[in-house]
Amino acid sequence: MSQSAPQRSLTASDIRARKGADPLVCLTAYTTPVAQLADADCDLVLVGDSVGMVLHGLPSTLGVTMEMMVLHGRAVARGLSRALMVVDMPFGSYEDSPAQAFRNAARLMAETGAGAVKLEGGAHMEDTIRFIVERGIPVMAHIGLTPQAVNALGGYRVQGRGADADRIAEDARAVTRAGAFSVVLEKVPAALADQITADIAIPTVGIGASAGCDGQILVIDDMLGLFDAFKPKFVKRYADLASEARTAIRTYAEEVRARSFPAPEHVFSQEEPGT
Ligand code: KIV
Repeated sequence: MSQSAPQRSLTASDIRARKGADPLVCLTAYTTPVAQLADADCDLVLVGDSVGMVLHGLPSTLGVTMEMMVLHGRAVARGLSRALMVVDMPFGSYEDSPAQAFRNAARLMAETGAGAVKLEGGAHMEDTIRFIVERGIPVMAHIGLTPQAVNALGGYRVQGRGADADRIAEDARAVTRAGAFSVVLEKVPAALADQITADIAIPTVGIGASAGCDGQILVIDDMLGLFDAFKPKFVKRYADLASEARTAIRTYAEEVRARSFPAPEHVFSQEEPGT
């Protein structure tokens, strides 16, 4: 009798080893059912702090708390069996000192079962990333457009145009030196993303960057067309679930108002006789 080997979750080392190999498929998820949908095709599922905007109606990611990340991280963990789960460190949970960052990263790992954490920032986070990694927690870095710094950056603009390109290329080298196992490149010009991908030894995961990155990530509600409050230009919609949901809700409302909503008899008549 042939028995297939039990499914093993991917680790940060597996992701790190994919540098220059098959592109990494990554998506965000915030709930168990969506994590279950993503698990079959994704190598990495990020419990992003985008959860604040996508599920909680916040105007930015700045109001996201550790408690929110723990709650959503636990929910996502229940839906994954193969993909590596990475949990975002929320704004204010790691910038103060390496010790603060380690304490909160350790809490996210222990309370959610994540395989790694992600934090935003390049060269100025080098010591912090090294401190966390040396204590046993894999770190995914995030450079280019770092949404937690939206107020300092003056909006959700493309980063790394002109002279700024050198700074972002140095950020990529700094997080690599610090021991990050991969790095998200958000909203940087394609040529710069390609140059960084060729330059550093860890996988680059692009979002609004370049098809030449070692992998891609999207916010799942954006690519499913579920979050349509606004649509970043770089996002391709693979479905239009918000408009399908609106149509379904309207149809339901019309049936209720017209008293044509299926009556209980309709359900009972399908049951086995005698039940
Ligand atoms: O929070 C998030 O969803 C992210 C991705 C956009 C990379 O950081």
